[in-house]
Amino acid sequence: MADNIGNKAAHDYHLDVPAAQEGFYVKGNAHCGWGMKNRLARMFRPESGNTVMLAFDHGYIMGPTAGLERIDLVIPPLVPDVDVLMGTRGVIRSCISPAVSAAKCVRVTYDSTVLYDDMSNGGGIACDINSAIEMNADCMAVQTFLGASGESRSLELLARTADAGSRYGIPTLGVVAVGKEMERTEKFFLLATRVLAENGANIVKSYYCEGFERVAAACPVPIVIAGGKKLPELEALEMAYRAIQEGAHGVDMGRNIFQSDSPTGMAQAIGKVVHEGYTPAQAYEVYQEIKHQK
Ligand code: 5RP
Repeated sequence: MADNIGNKAAHDYHLDVPAAQEGFYVKGNAHCGWGMKNRLARMFRPESGNTVMLAFDHGYIMGPTAGLERIDLVIPPLVPDVDVLMGTRGVIRSCISPAVSAAKCVRVTYDSTVLYDDMSNGGGIACDINSAIEMNADCMAVQTFLGASGESRSLELLARTADAGSRYGIPTLGVVAVGKEMERTEKFFLLATRVLAENGANIVKSYYCEGFERVAAACPVPIVIAGGKKLPELEALEMAYRAIQEGAHGVDMGRNIFQSDSPTGMAQAIGKVVHEGYTPAQAYEVYQEIKHQK
């Protein structure tokens, strides 16, 4: 029975203070539900509004990739230096501790492997919404192939994922694929990022290009940039710096971190650029310092 005798009477109603009506800092997501915002806030740091996502999902189309032969050895040491882990459910389940505190972005579609010239042909759901919930996913990633034969199929998978995600408060990351036939131009990325956002993506992963500030401005949700093939460390830091200065809200980087001669150094250096506005030269010093601590 409730003990209602002798309790202090409630009186602190602060009648002169308006109710807290916090805005929400993740671009384009202010009208989403609480659960969705909570997951986005686990991915994008409130202090910077940005995120460092570590991508190790390459095996879903490429099999073992240089640097990712033993994910169980390579990825866990990098977890403290990143905000989000991006991988397939198979690899997250087998190689990442469930006690991990970083957010998880699960790749939920499959595509044709590199054995086929046209990887856009033949995609489908690899991890349905029930499995994503069971994984406690903070985000679901869907690859899309604009300008390729699998374009409409991949857009359908994106929209269906976004439908399921909005039902359960799990954001969808739309990934812009660049295939052999696809141009890496401002014109292409303007179209691709906008199409993904309009079809339900809460976040878009795309590539840095000349004219990126217009691409970022025209995309109503945050863009995180992919790293792409391994570059010399300073060049990768320069690319991340330019992207952030021109409106990206983070990186979703794989090879430029785990293929580096100091993955920890690169993860920390990228974090300084993304969250603290370090210049490439300052961040390169961080990388060098950690590399030589070994
Ligand atoms: C391709 C992908 C990749 O699988 C991966 O996430 C890319 O990472 P990086 O290019 O930085 O190695 O998203 O679209």
